Amino acid sequence: MVDADLRPTLGSLGAKIKDLAESYERLLKENEIEAPTLAADSPVNISKFTPELFMTKQKLADAMNDLSIISQGPSESVFNYAHNVGPDMAALNIMNHFNFWNAVPASGSASIADIAKHTALPEEVVQRVIEHGTTLRYFAYTDNAAPSKSPIQHTSRSAALAKSPGLRALVASCIQDIMPPMAIMPEALERYSLGKPKTTKEMSETAFAMAHSGGEVFGNFANVWDYLENDGQGEKKGWRQRNFNAWMTYIKEIFGTKDVLLNAFDWKAAGEATVADIGGSGGHDAFELAEAYPNLKIVVQDLHECQPIFDQNVPSSLQSRVSFQEHDFFQPQRVHADVFFFKLIFHDWPDKESVEILQALRPALRRGAKVLFVEYMGKQGEIDASIPRSIRQFGTSTDLRMMALFNARERPVDAWKEIFRAADERFEVVRVDANPLTFMVVVEAVWRGEE
Ligand SMILES: C[S@@+](CC[C@H](N)C(=O)[O-])C[C@H]1O[C@@H](n2cnc3c(N)ncnc32)[C@H](O)[C@@H]1O
Repeated sequence: MVDADLRPTLGSLGAKIKDLAESYERLLKENEIEAPTLAADSPVNISKFTPELFMTKQKLADAMNDLSIISQGPSESVFNYAHNVGPDMAALNIMNHFNFWNAVPASGSASIADIAKHTALPEEVVQRVIEHGTTLRYFAYTDNAAPSKSPIQHTSRSAALAKSPGLRALVASCIQDIMPPMAIMPEALERYSLGKPKTTKEMSETAFAMAHSGGEVFGNFANVWDYLENDGQGEKKGWRQRNFNAWMTYIKEIFGTKDVLLNAFDWKAAGEATVADIGGSGGHDAFELAEAYPNLKIVVQDLHECQPIFDQNVPSSLQSRVSFQEHDFFQPQRVHADVFFFKLIFHDWPDKESVEILQALRPALRRGAKVLFVEYMGKQGEIDASIPRSIRQFGTSTDLRMMALFNARERPVDAWKEIFRAADERFEVVRVDANPLTFMVVVEAVWRGEE
């Protein structure tokens, strides 16, 4: 049976888009949110999404995508995608890596020669990259009548990148660190999974490990964390970890997930509690928590290169309550915390390693201690076709990224309980709060073992 959904017409989709766009505009107005434009002075993001606004936006994205496909035709839409995906990615990556964004004044313009001087790249490269960038609405010509000679101005997208180090870090990590392994996933699958009933779960058999198995460009790194910690020499050492920390910090801003952190637990009722923020990066979550809850003492634990990030960013007002400790979470835990907090940690690890991380807590667990996960939940159980495809894509994209980098997967809700059970039966999972709109899940377990 062919789904009616698969037989839209140009006219029906056009009408649907008109309706959804009008509803979206109305909802933005009702919520007093300024609508973005393509111009440099546009608001950089849409904050304060209501569930209705979010759903309308995603339905609009689905309808526009369908119209794009059927207006091009099947083969052409595939060709156009395959033809453009590499150059689109390369142009964004180059402009970001060499910071073209800050080479153009926020209001005003710069010539190709100015940008070349600022970035220390040959004019020819700048000109060719920007030419592609303008087709994607990164930058615009000030004179459309004579683009080749025209100075360059910002659009809303390039201006957003100029304004936000977090967005630049996100682009760098997502493209520079992650795309090379993703591009060789077929080779990794061929080598390690072809002809087998199940995909490999070995972290030494990922596309990442294959991409970083030697060679001048991608080096020899066992896993992502080894790469973030150890790529670069001298002052550059740890630059990928610094970038990653900026990305992680920015996630709270772009997805508005600070509230998820602050409400993940009754932090106030916890009293004078000690919290171990395990894999807490440079401490950005610990700072938010400690700021909001003066009763908490927080120890941030992470790898070596996170210490200088922490030292640089810890507000002096919090220094007595928030500290950093270098700690490998596969090693026995030394801090007898009341709450062991893991945010966005376990989805990066296959089940075997996740169980080991939990088991490493046991030496420090006192009866009644809490273990709290805040996790991204890309897969929410059975596929729900009523959820817009563009929403499901957030999860499916992360899921494939997890496969390429870690041979891990986005877990459905039930799998979280299973990890605790497999680690130790003395963990009792007392709460699993999954929010299908934020894609975040909070899991709380209590240690029922002896003192
Ligand atoms: C996805 S980030 C999450 C960071 C932070 N919790 C957040 O939500 O923004 C994963 C973190 O785990 C850290 N990590 C990876 N392997 C680790 C290990 N063996 N021991 C301690 N931390 C580790 C990384 O350095 C990184 O900061």
